[in-house]
Amino acid sequence: MKIFLIGFMGCGKSTLGRKLATKLGYDLIDLDHQIEKNTGSSVGDYFSAHGEDAFRKLESETLKSLDYPKNCVIATGGGTPCFFDNIDWMNENGTTIYIKMAAPALAKRLESGMAKRPLLRNLTAEGVVEFIENKLAEREGFYNKASLVLSGISLTADDIRAEILARS
Ligand code: S3P
Repeated sequence: MKIFLIGFMGCGKSTLGRKLATKLGYDLIDLDHQIEKNTGSSVGDYFSAHGEDAFRKLESETLKSLDYPKNCVIATGGGTPCFFDNIDWMNENGTTIYIKMAAPALAKRLESGMAKRPLLRNLTAEGVVEFIENKLAEREGFYNKASLVLSGISLTADDIRAEILARS
C-alpha cells in the first residue's frame, strides 16, 4: 500500500511520515529528498537556478517514475498535488491523506525554517500569514481531493494509522 501525505509546507508531512512509516513497518520516501538526490542540488538551489516551472516538471516526473516499494509512506512537497494531474495520479496509485492546518498555525511552525523554503524566503514575518492564506485558498481544492482529510493540530502517527485501518 502506498500512503501519500499531502498538505501545506510546515503541516508535518515529513515528521509524521517518518513516524507513521516506523509504526507500520513501511519504507519512507521523501519526494523533495529524492529530487535532491537526483539533481545533486537542494530544492532551494534548484528553484534559484532553473525557476519554479522547471521544478514542477521535475517534481511531477519524479513522483510518477520512482521505483516505489510495495508498502511505503510518501511525504510529498507542499505544491505536489497542485500541478499537472499529480493529485489524480496519487489517488489512482495509493491512499492520499491531507494534513490540514490553518494559516496562523502554519506560519508559526514555519518561522524558523523560512530561509530554506524558496516560496517563503523573501517574505517578512508580517507578510507570511497573508501569503499562506492566499496560497492555501489557491491550493485547498487540490488538497481536498485527498482520500482522507485530517486536522493536523495535535495529529499523531497513531491517529493516522487508526484512520487508515478504519477505512480498510
Ligand atoms: C513547496 C514545498 C516544499 C518544496 C518546495 C515547494 C511548495 O516542500 O517542495 O519548496 O510549493 O509548497 P515542503 O512542503 O516539504 O516544505
